[in-house]
Amino acid sequence: MTLNSKLAKLLNEQINNEMSSSYIYLAMAAWFEQTPYTGFATWMFNQSREETMHALKFYQYVVDRDAAVVLQPIAKPKADFKNPIDVFEHSLKQEQKVTQQINDLFEVAEQVKDHASKNLLLWFLNEQMEEEKSVRDMLDRLKLAGNDPASLLVLDREAGQRKAATGGEADAAA
Ligand SMILES: [Fe+2]
Ligand SMILES: [Fe+2]
Repeated sequence: MTLNSKLAKLLNEQINNEMSSSYIYLAMAAWFEQTPYTGFATWMFNQSREETMHALKFYQYVVDRDAAVVLQPIAKPKADFKNPIDVFEHSLKQEQKVTQQINDLFEVAEQVKDHASKNLLLWFLNEQMEEEKSVRDMLDRLKLAGNDPASLLVLDREAGQRKAATGGEADAAA
């Protein structure tokens, strides 16, 4: 089944959106590297890698559907933040934006009755739910910690131990 042209265009845009996310997270990792929060730097670095894997998953899908991959420039990411809460608030906004993009993509896939694309996008919708949750949980706890250095360091250590991938890498490689 030939990939619908509107859907192909949106899937290509999503390769770019995921690469942009990867770049945004890499900038966040770099910002944390300039602070004592090495655990949060690791979290953001791992997140950046996951977003690259998402981009590659969309790339592979477009290739497998025998459609052309068209790559676009990646925008310069925000590089200055006020504090860890500020970074995680931006992270949550970014994830919510991506969830909306995937939702929109799913709707188009549904309109053109492309069930294989719907299946791919369902995987991404679940992934988005997980990502929004992990960012939201950390944000809530950062707010609870406030300015207490001991509490912040506990959260930082925990963030550094977070697993690099939640299955996305294995799926993307499949
Ligand atoms: Fe993603
Ligand atoms: Fe994400």
